[in-house]
Amino acid sequence: MEWYKELCEWYKINKRDLPWRESKNPYYTWISEVILQQTRVAQGLPYYYDFIDKFPTVQHLASASEGDILIVWQGLGYYSRARNLHQGAKDIVKNLNGNLNQPPNVLLKIKGIGPYTANAIASLTYDYPVPVVDGNVYRVISRFFGIEEPVPSEKARKIFTEILLPILEHVKPSDFNQGLMELGALICSPTSPKCENCPLSGSCFAFKKNSINRFPVKLKKKKPQKQFLYYLVFESVKGKTVITKRTKGTWIGLHEFPLLDSSESIEVLELTKTIENEFDTKVLSIEKVYECKHQLTHRSINASFLKIKFSNLPTFKNLITFEIELDEIHLFPVHRLMKKYLDTHYKREI
Ligand code: ADE
Repeated sequence: MEWYKELCEWYKINKRDLPWRESKNPYYTWISEVILQQTRVAQGLPYYYDFIDKFPTVQHLASASEGDILIVWQGLGYYSRARNLHQGAKDIVKNLNGNLNQPPNVLLKIKGIGPYTANAIASLTYDYPVPVVDGNVYRVISRFFGIEEPVPSEKARKIFTEILLPILEHVKPSDFNQGLMELGALICSPTSPKCENCPLSGSCFAFKKNSINRFPVKLKKKKPQKQFLYYLVFESVKGKTVITKRTKGTWIGLHEFPLLDSSESIEVLELTKTIENEFDTKVLSIEKVYECKHQLTHRSINASFLKIKFSNLPTFKNLITFEIELDEIHLFPVHRLMKKYLDTHYKREI
């Protein structure tokens, strides 16, 4: 049997029971594929259930508030995905009458839907013969054919698409595409793949050449930038604390304490002076109550959370602020770094 037919047979027997596979609902496929970009199935599953529970249809999503969507998304990272889903749902309702049964070139016009997601929705739900090229597919196909082109890149996407397109004429696209992804997730893993259980090992270039670890060839990554964040917990006498809402960057729309942001670490004396200048206050004491490292794709953050006692009420120029009791914080979407702090300090209250 041809390798691609073997793969489809393997998929039918070995596929995991995942909720978006139970029905051919393009909305479920769209949401699951966006969640699973940058996120493993085990981590994404609870978010998927919660998301579909809160926003069961594209119309529900379109009419939700951004804050409600970010609340469900918080902790998952890459928040632009959630904001794009929201804008995309509005586009679909307005321009496509809420109907996601469209060819990939029409889906591509929707905010946040790129070639991967367009092809995934069209092929997994409606069996359009188009390939999905994600990290799993790069790995399986580069090993199987011995492709040296570094990934990911636009050039690599083109090469892999050209290899896969003709095959899609001979298979059921939803089984073949999901089979590749499933094989990448369950068997052809990045380190220590289970080649002894692989239905394709008989014709796999990398397996035959004993060079599994050489594929896929990766593009050199830039070193992450170091960043020092000093979060300032200004507790008032009434037990209220000031939080702010980000108005730009990757964390736009999410809440956190006011902060000082630096590319170098700052000494306490210097911190005190800067806080007094920046927030027009008089600092009585600073106590570091929590410290952690937090890794983002392009940034290595060293975060310190400082409890500040002050004598003059601080002023927050150019910031959107809320004075809240911290047990109300669940009403405000926060990023994972804030959540780390809140989980260690306010577990019982929240
Ligand atoms: N990763 C990305 N999309 C996936 C899917 N549909 N099934 C399993 N893993 C995936």
